[in-house]
Amino acid sequence: MTHMTESLTVTEISIPKTPTLPDAQTVTAVTHWTDRLFSFRVTRPQSLRFRSGEFVMIGLMGENGKPLLRAYSIASPSWDEELEFYSIKVPDGPLTSRLQHIQPGDQIILRPKPVGTLVLDALLPGKRLWFFATGTGIAPFASLMRDPDTYERYDEVIMMHTCRDVAELEYGRQLVESLSDDPLIGEMVGDKLRYYPTTTREQSARMGRITDNLTSGQVFADLGVPPLSPAHDRGMVCGSLDFNTDMKAVLEGFGLREGANSEPAEYVVEKAFVG
Ligand code: A2P
Repeated sequence: MTHMTESLTVTEISIPKTPTLPDAQTVTAVTHWTDRLFSFRVTRPQSLRFRSGEFVMIGLMGENGKPLLRAYSIASPSWDEELEFYSIKVPDGPLTSRLQHIQPGDQIILRPKPVGTLVLDALLPGKRLWFFATGTGIAPFASLMRDPDTYERYDEVIMMHTCRDVAELEYGRQLVESLSDDPLIGEMVGDKLRYYPTTTREQSARMGRITDNLTSGQVFADLGVPPLSPAHDRGMVCGSLDFNTDMKAVLEGFGLREGANSEPAEYVVEKAFVG
């Protein structure tokens, strides 16, 4: 595809080892996207059922013999035989400083109890579904974008993703571009999925923070859609704490209200894993 392809390191194995630790799963593939970002796939516990957008606790055994776990959104769709995760590498992060070195055949710990608010059931029916993500916050949407339910419930799905640099958008870009040809879901996606990537620090075709592109109306003008309205639009937000806080204010400004599993409304928010 692009400038990034040459520098990608993709490693795969075909026969996973049998897990031995409790709740252990075997790593089957690791892709390093940039020096800050990587994705990996692991075997899926047979009994694990989840709703697209949910997260699980995953991690490694700590040096003190206790599991070191963090919340990770499942990036793969619920029909996938394996599970996929997308992670930042924090140089001195207790977990990611070690997790970034995993190789196919290694084991990680995965607690098979999916939870989370970023699910379609927490939203009232609507016409247009917006995904708002910064950085690794795109992970739950990587799952939701591949869920047939998303396209059954909405006429149009808009993926806004913002990163500092072009290279950091690549995981999402490749996924979006692969969907229309996907043998399982391509037909459902059709031309319903629209992609609006921006960068904030590196010069690119489209720039600016999601919050700014919404409040200025730039994104509505670019995509030829009306401004957000509680009657038609639904939003799902996943990024840093600051991003989530600012996005709540922006969405409330358009008249949308925050929903939950127990009380669906017009938007939902989840914090992306950081550290
Ligand atoms: P910016 O470059 O202007 O800080 P990070 O890599 O630090 O997690 O940030 C990911 C992206 O999220 C960056 O493009 C960053 O823009 C953007 N961002 C960070 N904080 C906010 C916020 N409060 N509102 C909107 N966008 C944000």
